[in-house]
Amino acid sequence: MTLPSHAPRGVIEPGRLFVDQHGAVAQLHGVGIQRYDGVFWAWGEDKTHGGTFGGVACYSSPDLATWTSHGHALAVDETIPDLAPGRVVERPKVLRNPAGTYVMLLHVESADYSLARVGWAVADRPQGPYTYVRSERPLGNLSRDIGVFDDDDGTGYLLSEDRDHGLHVYRLSPDYLAVEEIVSTTLTRPGDHPVGPHGYESPTMIKADGLYYLFGSDLTGWSTNDNQYATATSPSGPWSQWRDVAPPGSATYDSQVSVVVPVRGSETTSYVYAGDRWDSRDLYHSAPVWLPMQVQDGRAELVWRDRWTLDPVTGEIA
Ligand code: GAL
Repeated sequence: MTLPSHAPRGVIEPGRLFVDQHGAVAQLHGVGIQRYDGVFWAWGEDKTHGGTFGGVACYSSPDLATWTSHGHALAVDETIPDLAPGRVVERPKVLRNPAGTYVMLLHVESADYSLARVGWAVADRPQGPYTYVRSERPLGNLSRDIGVFDDDDGTGYLLSEDRDHGLHVYRLSPDYLAVEEIVSTTLTRPGDHPVGPHGYESPTMIKADGLYYLFGSDLTGWSTNDNQYATATSPSGPWSQWRDVAPPGSATYDSQVSVVVPVRGSETTSYVYAGDRWDSRDLYHSAPVWLPMQVQDGRAELVWRDRWTLDPVTGEIA
């Protein structure tokens, strides 16, 4: 087996690794991405210890392709049970709350994946260091893969997979530090998929031209599947039927959605899909599959590109 090689800095090549300013493999697994003051910030799972917690790695970039490491935003900490060595902490997602505090939400787990909690950490700058706050099962529900979304009116949302009930969209408190209520739940997928307990996980949401798009994968562990999306005029739904985001049977170009990033430029708004091509035997070298996504008139579609760049000023993809 040869490892996926890395792309030249400044270029995105789906299936090839990113390297940071030191030439180290960027740990952008299960990534969350935000753009603050023109800079893209990314928080990823550091897979140095394979499936168990190796820290939340933080990177910045002007163009989603040239990455600078800022070390660990949240480190392994043996004094905090949720962050202790041997635990599982996945899908770090950050929102800046209306008071300007950076709030990191996390999937906090035990090694056997029975804990199913969401955790919070806070910082006064994107790269941290973050102070751990606590974890819980939101409103008593199982919570594994998560996503976050903040609306134009400042309302924050947690998207969370609960295999007992489906994928929940929860409204957060005004400071994003607590879950207030479920605004919608997408029921389990119809049983037309060949593997897994069926549902939607690894959720992420965007708003384009006033329409909300909710993305998720099927529940097939580290194996990839045909990821889907639904639309609604409000985070409360009702959600449309779910549709494939890539050619059916391509397993989303062999990737699992982690986040879709809107890039608002002077000429256009582009949407960037950031997905993971997990290698369960070598999670550290799992390759990013990042692609432009066409979003228009209620349709979202991944566009395959062997290599591409983003102009962060105009928003155009080349
Ligand atoms: C997937 C999930 C990943 C990770 C993996 C462990 O379903 O999306 O984040 O938890 O399972 O098997």
